Amino acid sequence: MFEKLYSGFGSFWGSSPNKIIPRLLRYIKHGSVLDLGMGEGRDAIFLASSGFSVEGVDISSSALKKTISIASEHGLKIKVSEGDARRFKFQHNYDAVICLGVLQLFSIEDIEKVIAAIKENVTSGGLVAISSFTVDNPLEKCPYPSPDGSYCEYYLFKKGEMRNFFSDWKILEYSEYMSKIHKHGDEKLHKHGMVSMIAKKPL
Ligand SMILES: C[S@@+](CC[C@H](N)C(=O)[O-])C[C@H]1O[C@@H](n2cnc3c(N)ncnc32)[C@H](O)[C@@H]1O
Repeated sequence: MFEKLYSGFGSFWGSSPNKIIPRLLRYIKHGSVLDLGMGEGRDAIFLASSGFSVEGVDISSSALKKTISIASEHGLKIKVSEGDARRFKFQHNYDAVICLGVLQLFSIEDIEKVIAAIKENVTSGGLVAISSFTVDNPLEKCPYPSPDGSYCEYYLFKKGEMRNFFSDWKILEYSEYMSKIHKHGDEKLHKHGMVSMIAKKPL
């Protein structure tokens, strides 16, 4: 479903990084970052231009082509892999893993596996930045149809649920909130119930 969005627009999610990225940079200044579900690479490109060694994965080839093209325009190197984040084979640990606006697309069983894999593959003292949708999200299903015409049901995080996944880590920032009204591409104006978190793995 994202293929269609990405092939139709210049930069569907915009070119500015996610708001959580400057906040993440208060806690980490250099190192390796993995972006799971990197989309068109707005965060990966910002992090690479800030001196991080960045890898990313996305299931959409159009998204990755855009990332590669923008990165090369800026003379930046980003290692990208086309694939399913739910089956991503971690080759090494990362100083930070970001997964922004992706987990709501997965089942709770897959979310548990992906979060467990992220937690295992962050270096001691390393960080995660995660955002996803909550039960306050006005829509329960993704508004874009999948290739088979069905509409993916979102997983909506309950109050405190994301924090509980990281109860053995230090939570540096955590908020559950309603986003501002906005739109991407030719979408209707809408808002999201969001959870956003930065957490640090114990040393
Ligand atoms: C809402 S977009 C967010 C993109 C990016 N994180 C950002 O904030 O700009 C969700 C992204 O997740 C990707 N995605 C969806 N399912 C995926 C999967 N199973 N594995 C990897 N990426 C996936 C989509 O292709 C899309 O680029």
